[in-house]
Amino acid sequence: MTDGYVSDVPYVWSYIAELAPAWLDHAALVSGFVPPDRSDTFNWCDLGCGLALTPIALAATHPRGKFYGIDILPAHIAAAGRLRDDAGLQNLTLHCADFDSACNLNLPSFDYIVSHGVYSWVSPPVRQSWLRFVNRHLKPGGLVFVSYNAMPGRAADLPLQRLVRAIGNSLPGDSQTRALAALRVARAMTELKAPALTASPMAAALMSRPELPPAYLAHELMGGSWDPLCVTEVRADMRSIGLASAGTANLLQNYDSFVLRKAARDVLAGIEDQDAREFARDFFLDQFFRQDVYIRDGQTADSDRRREALLSRCYALAKDSRNVEYVVQTPAGKLRFDNPSARSIVAALDGGPRILSHLLTPETDPRDLLANALVLAAARIILPVGDEFADVGPLNSAIENSAQAIPWRVLPWGSAVRR
Ligand SMILES: C[S@@+](CC[C@H](N)C(=O)[O-])C[C@H]1O[C@@H](n2cnc3c(N)ncnc32)[C@H](O)[C@@H]1O
Repeated sequence: MTDGYVSDVPYVWSYIAELAPAWLDHAALVSGFVPPDRSDTFNWCDLGCGLALTPIALAATHPRGKFYGIDILPAHIAAAGRLRDDAGLQNLTLHCADFDSACNLNLPSFDYIVSHGVYSWVSPPVRQSWLRFVNRHLKPGGLVFVSYNAMPGRAADLPLQRLVRAIGNSLPGDSQTRALAALRVARAMTELKAPALTASPMAAALMSRPELPPAYLAHELMGGSWDPLCVTEVRADMRSIGLASAGTANLLQNYDSFVLRKAARDVLAGIEDQDAREFARDFFLDQFFRQDVYIRDGQTADSDRRREALLSRCYALAKDSRNVEYVVQTPAGKLRFDNPSARSIVAALDGGPRILSHLLTPETDPRDLLANALVLAAARIILPVGDEFADVGPLNSAIENSAQAIPWRVLPWGSAVRR
């Protein structure tokens, strides 16, 4: 029924910040598109929501939004439903369904459809159902987030995944037991510097991060359809249902000047086709995981409108202000932004999330303030958040009292941190 997707062990509780409406709006705006109008109500749907902590947190912090989560595994939807009910949330509907049958559910049209960690883990027919769902349910002007293992960066991990799956499938036990046993062999082989594993970033990560949760490893590695995708293939899929690229939720990667050296930009300038150029760009980034944003019938925003819209958005500090370093490592080298404007934004947000334009003084140049906010967001020092602070007490109590170990605390402005 799951077409080769791991179905015998539940996934981990994960919160994905990039799926928040404010984050996706920010990505669309920096790419020149007008995001959905959320001034009244809006509809948001997570395809392959897993244990649904992200939709649960967003439903609690966006009372005017209507949230939906769809997943094929009954254990996921049952656990998510318990947490939702314990938190008293009324604006989250969960469906246990595969993408094919979800197409026939009685659902509204969505302003946002998100899908994290699904598209390159499921079979081509399942991807077709996924596309049919999005085609049927995305509103004009609606945004789609889709993340996937990407070529060329994941090419070097392909042998490792096939090895783990082959050894795992030859062993008894559930997917988790089999993945762990297979990984013990793969780690020993990595230690012995088996040549086919030395170039694999995933093999290196498995060695350096023994804390990776077993359920995560089972879902990551044991599926029957683990296939890294080229951005050209995914864009063609999205185009087939009328969607156009609206940048990436990996905010840093929206800026050529941040991630590419001049010589690389010059080479890419010679490639006319935008999808081929993006694929070639992924070679310079050694891209292994993409977080694409797409839009249907997107309305473009000129630079004045974009600036005004971004200045009217709310931002929060993503880390303790004492730990902020005004520099970020990118594939092109170190990007430095230690200047009074960046420091003033961090200082202001230290007191809590603020709307950017509220930081303007008669002496501030709005362009300078915005440019620095964009760099700080790209460097994940600040993050785009909602501006209506919700009572997250009931949800956090439900999380703390859950029989499951849920390592997250939800924040009132629509985000979450590990606890
Ligand atoms: C790697 S998990 C990601 C879960 C969640 N998006 C997250 O980030 O925590 C992939 C999810 O896709 C779901 N899934 C796989 N195939 C599916 C299908 N055909 N229809 C619906 N859900 C599916 C799985 O049950 C699983 O929860």
